[in-house]
Amino acid sequence: MTDLADPAHAAATTVDLTVNGTPVSVRANHPHLLSALRDELDLTSPKDGCSPSGQCGCCTVMIDGKAVVSCQTSVAKVAGKSVVTLEGVAEEERKRFADAFSACGGLQCGFCIPGIVMRAKAQIDKKGADLKRDDMARHLGAHLCRCTGYVKILDAIEAVACGTSFDPQLASTVGGAGAKYEAAELALGDRGYVDDIRIDGMLHAALHLTDHARADVLGIDVTTALSAPGVSAVFTAADIPGELMVGIIYKDWPVMIPIGGRTSYAGDVLAIVVAETREQAREAAKLVDVNYNVLPVVTDPVAAIADGAEVAVWGTENNVLSVSEYARGDVDAALAASAFTVHDVFQTQRIEHAFLEPESTVAVPNADGTLQVYSGGQGVWDDRDDIARMLAIPKDQVTVTLVSNGGAFGGKEDMCNQAHTALAAWWTKRPVKCTISREESLRMHAKRHPIRLEYWAGCDADGKLTGVKVRAVGDSGAYASVGMKVLERAAGHASGPYHVPTIDVHAVAARTNNPVCGAFRGFGANQAQFGMEGVLDRLAEQVGISGWEIRKRNVIHPGEVWGPGQIMDDGCAGAEACLDAIKHRYDEARAAGKAVGLGLGLKNSGLGNGFREISRAVVHFLAAPDTDGRDIEVRHGWTEMGQGVHTVALQVAAQELSVDPNRIKVIVDTTRELGFGQTTGSRGTLMAAGSVQQACAAALAGGCAIGVDYEGEHLVDWTHKIGDPEHPQPLIHAAFGYAVQMAIVDRDTGNIETMVAVHDVGKAVNPLLCEGQIEGSLHMGLGYALTEQFPHDPETGFPTNTTLRSLGILRAKDVPKLEVSLVEVPQPRAPFGIKGVGEIGLVPTAPAIAAALHEYDGIWRSTLPMRPKGGDSDD
Ligand code: FES
Ligand code: FES
Repeated sequence: MTDLADPAHAAATTVDLTVNGTPVSVRANHPHLLSALRDELDLTSPKDGCSPSGQCGCCTVMIDGKAVVSCQTSVAKVAGKSVVTLEGVAEEERKRFADAFSACGGLQCGFCIPGIVMRAKAQIDKKGADLKRDDMARHLGAHLCRCTGYVKILDAIEAVACGTSFDPQLASTVGGAGAKYEAAELALGDRGYVDDIRIDGMLHAALHLTDHARADVLGIDVTTALSAPGVSAVFTAADIPGELMVGIIYKDWPVMIPIGGRTSYAGDVLAIVVAETREQAREAAKLVDVNYNVLPVVTDPVAAIADGAEVAVWGTENNVLSVSEYARGDVDAALAASAFTVHDVFQTQRIEHAFLEPESTVAVPNADGTLQVYSGGQGVWDDRDDIARMLAIPKDQVTVTLVSNGGAFGGKEDMCNQAHTALAAWWTKRPVKCTISREESLRMHAKRHPIRLEYWAGCDADGKLTGVKVRAVGDSGAYASVGMKVLERAAGHASGPYHVPTIDVHAVAARTNNPVCGAFRGFGANQAQFGMEGVLDRLAEQVGISGWEIRKRNVIHPGEVWGPGQIMDDGCAGAEACLDAIKHRYDEARAAGKAVGLGLGLKNSGLGNGFREISRAVVHFLAAPDTDGRDIEVRHGWTEMGQGVHTVALQVAAQELSVDPNRIKVIVDTTRELGFGQTTGSRGTLMAAGSVQQACAAALAGGCAIGVDYEGEHLVDWTHKIGDPEHPQPLIHAAFGYAVQMAIVDRDTGNIETMVAVHDVGKAVNPLLCEGQIEGSLHMGLGYALTEQFPHDPETGFPTNTTLRSLGILRAKDVPKLEVSLVEVPQPRAPFGIKGVGEIGLVPTAPAIAAALHEYDGIWRSTLPMRPKGGDSDD
């Protein structure tokens, strides 16, 4: 038997197989077939979302005609066999799939799609037009898509199976339902992500993470790791020339924990190992030997903020990260005088973004002493500044180029391995790539906050709200990230899209040794409105009116005061418009005897709170078209992460310039100081559209001359901070998105059979993509409501779910019917009236489901998830 564990023997051993019709020999010591395909044969259409665990399906290829996940297949097993990747599929067939996925809107970030296409091909090869949608959904059980909700993926596969042909086109207007920019390349796996970058002489880095969530680091011995095969360097905190601490708002997150320092959560990094191959780096990283003095962890957020609690996080003075509070009127008196009152405690859970592309960074030192970093992060400008601070060099010596990523949902706002990769490249003077494993990704990046929300609410005999009082504690984990802003947003959204005469809200973000929590689609609004919608439904029952009726009686109108005191503008009419639009489906479902629940929500778009928000864009006409025939560049600075901001920029430019959209190339430009912070808060579409519109206006005014940078800017500088004494009725947010969702539950089975979503997006720039985003949000919201969680061990602070499967994410076959429709109530002062759709998507989902399940069995549910799965045996 071949001893593959013996590197000397293994290196000399090869395996013969056929790949895409060509006989090849590959090294036998790859950990799996995926590694041989990607790292040796440079075939990058199979993506690595979770190797070697085989739980995402992104690496699916065909072996002797069968769809197989290649990260679970040994190289030895494919000896003499025929392997086909998307690169090897006939051009005509590739085009059929690319056209169908483009035309049906069957992809967003695209990371999962090549694997899904291979699975679909295997099924269509077998069954042709007889392939049933339900069967295909079952076969997609081996795959995860975190963006689409699977509806449009199944539409595309069905179309290919039936032989439907498409001629997908980019839309040339704002409001046109065209194909996504780069859809075909994404569908076929041809548009590279960071891990697909190959550079001659590139080294690979791996990280050594802590063994303990709270421990003093007494010593770090790297000698054994340094002498491991292929290793060229090992770096620790002692090698950081500049600042140790980074962070988006507070600089409190150590790039690495030094000797003499203290770990604060399971994702802390102790060392970086750099080697010739990824496997060598990862193997050697295990050999770093750390001497700890293990300390007890602080894992209960409520106990953490009590007087006398032990300080959880190294370098901090107490466990209160932030307090957000405001009050209007005398709530206690209002509640005492109310005809009906309710008091309940709601507990939401921590969940994981589960973007399909694990974090990857490439850093390249240039001959002139500058550093080029390729990142899929949501805030390349913040990354650049922090990397420069860490290296103690001017920030113009660092360029961070954004590579459109494979999903983020807020989880790529903080730096993950960007600083580590930059440090390794800086000292080795070689290009370095660091792609972390799924398990490391789960441990390192920030999650959605679990929040305990205690609500008191009252209404009069007609169901009109009289007052709402909220006390909330969110578990922010170890480092600040944007935790204080999440709790601030939870506080601000605590009364939902309703007019409440009196209100009193107090929300604390607590530091603990649990996983860091930060930005995640919805950003605190989900948690708060699970509570608010819950108390509203309980009040409706007492009053004896329906869930729809109590919302109609309390929904906020233009000119009324909202939550923290903001006088709402005409855009808020969207909330009532959504309610009115869903009424006939609500009545219809109830008349059919279904158990039905509603959720109505709002979510701010943009940062607001007094921030000066700027978006800049450049329109530039080339002297000659590029190789793809494009001669107009539109440059902006927002992260494309599947949401379609490139498509928005393209459609705005095509309309404003009255040009064929195929002439336009969209570029994220990190060289022209177009930077303005994180792609977050549902603001990318709105802000990018505004700046591109202005750049086009400048171009038209200037005669669209060749070679000129026509610049445009969209500025939002009219918001106020909560609690600003100069603004007793602060305009906290410039825009909000609104949505109502309805869960329909089968009374016989208790299963959710349909989710109906009506969203006011102000203006849908591309209705096809907009609808797709909402379907994806519904899928994520269903998981949040029912099954998903990312718990920690209270004894260690370590997460107990360490695989994708254990997260409880719904597979394609488990997704109920999704019905989506759009309402367009324009947002004043926003370009084209756009409101943004990214974050509002799952705000109403959990409360709608909780209300429907209450109608089904009479039980009020206050804890998420409502039907937890968890563990590795879910599927
Ligand atoms: S990378 Fe193979 S299944 Fe996820
Ligand atoms: S399109 Fe499926 S994971 Fe993004």
